[in-house]
Formats: sequence, structure tokens, C-alpha cells
Amino acid sequence: MSGIKAAITGVHGWVPEYVLTNAELEKLVDTSDEWITTRSGIKERRILKGEGQGTSVIGAEVVKGLLEKTGTKPEEIELLIVSTVTPDYAFPATANIIADKTGLKNAWSYDLNAACSGFLYALTTAAKFIETGTHKKVMVIGAEKMSMMVDYTDRATCVLFGDGGGGILLEPTTEDVGIIDSIHYTDGSGRQYLYQQGGGSVKPASYETVANKEHYIHQEGQSVFKFAVKGMADVSVEIMEKNGLTSDDVTWLVPHQANLRIIDATARRMGIDKNKVMINIQKYGNTTTGTIPLCLWEWEDQLKKGDNVILSAFGGGFTWGSIYVKWAY
Ligand code: UT7
Repeated sequence: MSGIKAAITGVHGWVPEYVLTNAELEKLVDTSDEWITTRSGIKERRILKGEGQGTSVIGAEVVKGLLEKTGTKPEEIELLIVSTVTPDYAFPATANIIADKTGLKNAWSYDLNAACSGFLYALTTAAKFIETGTHKKVMVIGAEKMSMMVDYTDRATCVLFGDGGGGILLEPTTEDVGIIDSIHYTDGSGRQYLYQQGGGSVKPASYETVANKEHYIHQEGQSVFKFAVKGMADVSVEIMEKNGLTSDDVTWLVPHQANLRIIDATARRMGIDKNKVMINIQKYGNTTTGTIPLCLWEWEDQLKKGDNVILSAFGGGFTWGSIYVKWAY
């Protein structure tokens, strides 16, 4: 080991202005505020409106905010990793577009897709570039325009998802802070429970895929729920045990925001009080890879140097994992 750790030195988030409330959804589909709130914890979500507005709009706002907050010049950034399942185009990478929009002239950039666990996968990947000493300033962004693949006539999915994202700046440190450990898992046999059926190389877009609504999110909610409750709780406890952390040692749990019941179950298994859990699902719904950086952004002023922070996610793939971060500022 080099003795260099990757420290998070800045956080930023961005959500579009338009607020889609449960009351508005009640007019679109046969649902109720009561059902949505008790089953998922969601009250409202943000939607990116307007022609030609893709995920890069969200990502570029995050990068601009991060540069400003951390006093970093765009040309200092060496690498940008963007996690998303809703890229602007199938190719080129949305990261390339965000880098162009924000003047990251010296950065190489690429997208990474691990569905709802994408931000954690990207953060672990980025940390390696810092820990090996090859990079000094790396940005990791998780951004989604989930509304692009939501069927607003399907009550089972349209109430869940929202648009938005966030990101972090990673820099080297020799102090005992930063990314301490990470555990990640994948089980592709779960792919049929949560995916977009059409538009890829298996089923390229056609009149038929459009007519069959195969470009929308397909989710078998109950099946995903069962795997998510177990997967997210198991891996969160695993990373605590591996690093000798008791529930008292954990300052914050930052869980993926897919369902309040999954978050509560994870916190219970970890023995963590609800007041140590970052929860904003009521405001933004499930922004997929955006949820964890959006939480860090909203709680940034409550985080202190040395805090033990556990980030945990479960998502399509299946993918899941946890990262143990010692907060650096
Ligand atoms: O982020 C990546 C990973 N994703 C997840 O972790 C999501 C995991 N799954 C979930 O969070 C939950 O399964 C949902 C929130 C998606 C659904 O909650 P559920 O308690 O599993 O409900 P369900 O799908 O079993 O549906 C229960 C009932 C059904 O009616 P019947 O068959 O009992 O008559 C549904 O048709 O609720 C009905 N229903 C609704 N009713 C009102 C489904 N959606 C709605 C709705 N409004 N929006």
C-alpha cells in the first residue's frame, strides 16, 4: 500500500426545479398519497423538463458547483467518472459531454453503469486512481434523468423515480481519513426483475418495442424488495464487522433511497438510530445513482472530520455494496 488515501474534499448536488407531487400523480394514475407514502416514503420528486435536456444538464451543474465550492480550476481535474443508466446518448459517454460543457480540458472521462449501486462502484474505482498516486484530482458524478424511461400510465413504477444527481471531488491525503474500505457484489441472474427491455443490442428499438412499451422501466417490485432488504443490510453489517465498527462507532448511514422500508430494515440490522440515517427520499424519490451524493450534499454541513460514514446501495443487476468513509473535512 502507498499510504495515500482518497479523501472526499467536496460535495455538490443538483435537482431540477419542477416538483411532481403525489397529488399530481393521483390525477395521472389510480394511486393515492397514502399508498405511496406508506409503501415507499416518497412525497414528491423532481423532473427535468424541456426539449433536448438530458442527464448531462444535471451532471454539468454538479461539476460547476463542485469546482466553485472547492476553488478548483476546470483544467486541474484529471479524470471524471459519471455513473448513470440514463445517458444522453448510447454513445459517446455522457462524461465526455459533461467534461466539454464544464471546460475539463485536461480530464479523461467515461461512464460507468451499475444501476442504483453505480455511484458506489464509481467511487471505489476513482479511489484507486488516487491511492496509486497517478491522479490528484478526480470527480465522481451520479446523475439521472429517470423520467426518460418512466411510463406515467404505470402506477407500479411512475410513483417511485425522480431526476437529479450529485457528485464529489476526490484528492489524495496521508491522514487517516478518506475511503477506508469497500465491498461490492454483482448477481446478474437478477437482471429480469429490474431492467429496460428494449433499446439495447438484444432488442434494438423498433416499432414493436415502442408499441410494447419496452423502453420503459420494468420492475418486479416485490422480488427486488426481498433481495434489496437482505443485500443492503447484509453488506452494511459485513463492512462494519470487517472494520471493527460497532453501531456506536458509525456516525452516519447513507443508504440508497429506493424505499423507506428498505432503509429502515438496513438501519435496524446495523443497530443504528434513525437520527443517524440520511433520508431525503420524501423529497426526491429514487434518483437511482443520484441518491447517495444528493444525501451527502444535503447533510454536508452536519458532517465533521473523522466521522465514520457508511454508504450502502442495492440496485438493478443485481448490484450492491458498501463503502466505509472517514469524513475528511
Ligand atoms: O432502486 C433499485 C432497487 N429498487 C428497489 O429497491 C425497489 C424495491 N421494491 C419496492 O420498493 C416495493 O416493492 C414497491 C414500492 C415497488 C411496491 O411496494 P409493495 O409493497 O411491494 O407493493 P406490491 O408491488 O406488492 O403491490 C401491492 C398492491 C398491488 O395490488 P393487489 O395486487 O394487492 O391488489 C398493486 O397493484 O398495491 C398495488 N399498487 C398500487 N396501488 C396504489 C402498486 N402500485 C400502486 C400505486 N398505488 N402506485
